[in-house]
Amino acid sequence: MPPRTHGQRLFPGVMDENIPAMRKIAWNAAILLLLAVPLFAETPLIRPGEVWPDNRGQHVQAHGGGIILVHGTYYWFGEDRSQGQDRSKRYVACYSSKDLAHWTFRNQPIKLSDPENFGPTWVLERPKVFYNAKTKKYVMYMHIDGPSPGHTGGYDLARVGVAVSDTVDGDYRYLRSFRPLDHQSRDIGQFIDDDGTPYLIFEDRPFGFRIATLSGDYLNVEKEVCLIPLHLEGGAVVHLDGLYYAIGSALTGWNPNPNKYATAKSLAGPWSEFKDIAPPETKTYGSQSTMLLKIVGKKATTVIFMGDIWKPRTQWDSRYLWMPLEIGNGKLWLPEPKPWSLDVKSGVATILK
Ligand code: GAL
Repeated sequence: MPPRTHGQRLFPGVMDENIPAMRKIAWNAAILLLLAVPLFAETPLIRPGEVWPDNRGQHVQAHGGGIILVHGTYYWFGEDRSQGQDRSKRYVACYSSKDLAHWTFRNQPIKLSDPENFGPTWVLERPKVFYNAKTKKYVMYMHIDGPSPGHTGGYDLARVGVAVSDTVDGDYRYLRSFRPLDHQSRDIGQFIDDDGTPYLIFEDRPFGFRIATLSGDYLNVEKEVCLIPLHLEGGAVVHLDGLYYAIGSALTGWNPNPNKYATAKSLAGPWSEFKDIAPPETKTYGSQSTMLLKIVGKKATTVIFMGDIWKPRTQWDSRYLWMPLEIGNGKLWLPEPKPWSLDVKSGVATILK
């Protein structure tokens, strides 16, 4: 830099005596920026429909899944449809998270070869885990299926399977499969009421959508609470401000359809008529319900719609559509999917504009 001649300013248009003040402003701005970066880094975004990398950088494999909270940690269980696995086996994966955005792979708690000899097309879908505080066991329910004798299709037997573990993310021991209360059961859903009572939701093809309690040890389905005589699957329920909200999808296989909801003051009903949860032409924005997850924070309660965007031909690449619902006073609405963040401590969800 050439030496300054007398009267020439360091920065043209700025009096030299103002430079210390300007430096201070610049310095403060830099500090503010430094403080702001970690703030943004700490509010991670949930991005509906995108690849969701786990701690290993691999897309989360927890399709048709469910979440339970254990001592401040969320555990997400679902179908592991990763490529390159043994095609005769069926896998469930388990991930953990403190913030519902960053997920750490924990285990494949289920790696099963056809446990009931249903043949190569046997099915294990929609695993859901309950914790039984009395027996101190984690109990997994899943949809177990296979073809009836002489058939080739995969969904004739319509049963639930049960497996148990002493730890949430341990290797679960498969116990058996059965038809709950002697009814057909295909898609299952899980609901734990605010008083801790566990319920299994199951789709009974000839009759509709059933909600039933579990036995004391959770290993059996004990008593029917309600039959909603509508053909709905992907069933989920949430209890909010004294009202129960049930959602479900129509029976269109892997193809999306307009999911619907109804409300009731008691799980046993009467239930209101079912209404759309999103503009019907969007077909639930291409997704299908699997669970309604209630996050009760210090400032707010957020109910998350957890849905699957199925890709039947590349199942490992199926995506997730999670969004905070607009819910209350008997109304439920799924906003248009956009990246959003959740502060699990305050319960406040913020959707990006
Ligand atoms: C859907 C169901 C999925 C899977 C699929 C197979 O109706 O919700 O879990 O079973 O059918 O076609």
